[in-house]
Amino acid sequence: MGRTYRLAIIGNGMICNAAHLPALAPLRDQGMVEVVGVADIRAQAARETAERYHVPAWYEDPQKMLDELKPDWVSICTPNRHHDWSIAALNAGAHVMCEKPLALTYREAAEMFAVAKAQGKLLFPCQSRRWSADMDFASDIVRKGLLGRLYFADLSFVRRFGIPTWGMFHMQKENGGGPFCDLGVHFLDSLLWMAGNPRVEAVSGKSFDVLAKKGENVLLSIKESGAYSGTFTPRPYQAAEFSVEDCAVGFMRLAGNFGVNFKFTWALNQPTGKHIILCGDEGGLDVEQTTLYQNVGHYQGETRLKYFDNRPYAERPFDAHYYMYEHVYRVLEGLEDPRVKPEETLNVVAAIEAYYRSAEENREVRTDELEGYPV
Ligand SMILES: NC(=O)c1ccc[n+]([C@@H]2O[C@H](COP(=O)([O-])OP(=O)(O)OC[C@H]3O[C@@H](n4cnc5c(N)ncnc54)[C@H](O)[C@@H]3O)[C@@H](O)[C@H]2O)c1
Repeated sequence: MGRTYRLAIIGNGMICNAAHLPALAPLRDQGMVEVVGVADIRAQAARETAERYHVPAWYEDPQKMLDELKPDWVSICTPNRHHDWSIAALNAGAHVMCEKPLALTYREAAEMFAVAKAQGKLLFPCQSRRWSADMDFASDIVRKGLLGRLYFADLSFVRRFGIPTWGMFHMQKENGGGPFCDLGVHFLDSLLWMAGNPRVEAVSGKSFDVLAKKGENVLLSIKESGAYSGTFTPRPYQAAEFSVEDCAVGFMRLAGNFGVNFKFTWALNQPTGKHIILCGDEGGLDVEQTTLYQNVGHYQGETRLKYFDNRPYAERPFDAHYYMYEHVYRVLEGLEDPRVKPEETLNVVAAIEAYYRSAEENREVRTDELEGYPV
C-alpha cells in the first residue's frame, strides 16, 4: 500500500459536503487518506461538517489549521477567490487541490503555479468534468479522428432559472463572476482539452443581469442550480446582493483558425438545457445528444451512438469527484501524470479574464493584452 496523506479542507459549504467528503470516503476506508481537519470562516459550517463526516478537528481560522495540523494535502472549497488560501497551503508545505475556477486572472493563476513549482508541490485544479462519462465518450471520438480537424464549437449551458442561492455565487467580491466562471469554466476546459489545448487568442463577450435584477419571485430548484444533493449550512440569499452576470454570451477565437460560440446562463427565458457541439472537417458531434454527423457517400448521415457508464461510482451525485480524488492520489504516488495540466488551466483562466474585460469594456479583448501573459 502507498502512503497515508493527512488531508484538510478549507471552505466547508456545499461542494465540500456534497462532493469532496463523500468522494474521500473510499480513500479514507483504504487508509490512503486521513482527513485531519476542516476550516471555514463560518464556525457553524466547519463544526457541522466535522460532525457530519467524523473529522477530529475544525477551525474558524484556516491559517491556524495549516499551522497546527501541518496537513500534507489541502483541498480548497471556498468561493471563487481561491488564490490566497491555495498559496498559503502551498507555502505551508501541502499539495493543493483547488476547486474551479482555479483563479480569475491570468496573473494570479501563473503565480499559483509558480509557488507550487517553487515548493515542489502539486497544484491540481478540480476540473471534475474531465472524469464525466460524456467526456470519456466525446474525447474518445475526437482522439480516434472521427471528426477530422476541429474548427468550430458551440458551447451552451442554459439554466432557465437556476441561480445558486446557498452561498456567495451571486456576489462579485467573493465569486468574481456568475455563470461564465461557474458553468463556462467546465465547458471551456472540456473543449480545450478535447481539442488539444489550442491557445485562446481573443474573447468578445456580453454579460447581462436582467432577470436576476428584476426581482421576480420565480421558484428556483436547488438541484437545477447545481446542488444535486442539497445544501449544507447554507448562507441566506438576498437578491439585493446580486452583483454578477446571470447570462454570459459571446464568441472566442482560438489558435489554428478555430471559433467558439458560447452561452452560459443562470437565468434566461429559454428552456434549461446544455450542449457541446464539436465540428470538424470529417464530422460533427453533439455530445449531449450522442449524435455523430458524417456524410456517407453522397448522403448526409446522422448516427446515434450509445455509451455505457459502467464505472463504480456512476450513480452517485458528483461522481467525477470520486475518480478525481483517486487520480490525484495516484499522481502524488508517482503512478500517473496529472490529467489537468498547468498550461491548460492557464489557457482557461486567460479566457475567463478576457471575457470579463470584454464584457466590461464592450470590445473584443485579446489574451495578449492580459497582465503577465504569457508565462
Ligand atoms: N467542480 C464542481 O463541479 C463544482 C461544483 C460546485 C461548486 N464548485 C466550486 O466550489 C467552490 C465552493 O462552492 P460551494 O457550492 O461549496 O459554495 P458554498 O458557499 O456552499 O461554500 C463555500 C464555503 O466557503 C466559506 N468561505 C467563504 N470565504 C472563505 C474564506 N475566505 N476562507 C474560508 N472559508 C470561506 C463559506 O463560509 C462557505 O461555507 C466554488 O469555487 C465553486 O465554483 C465546483
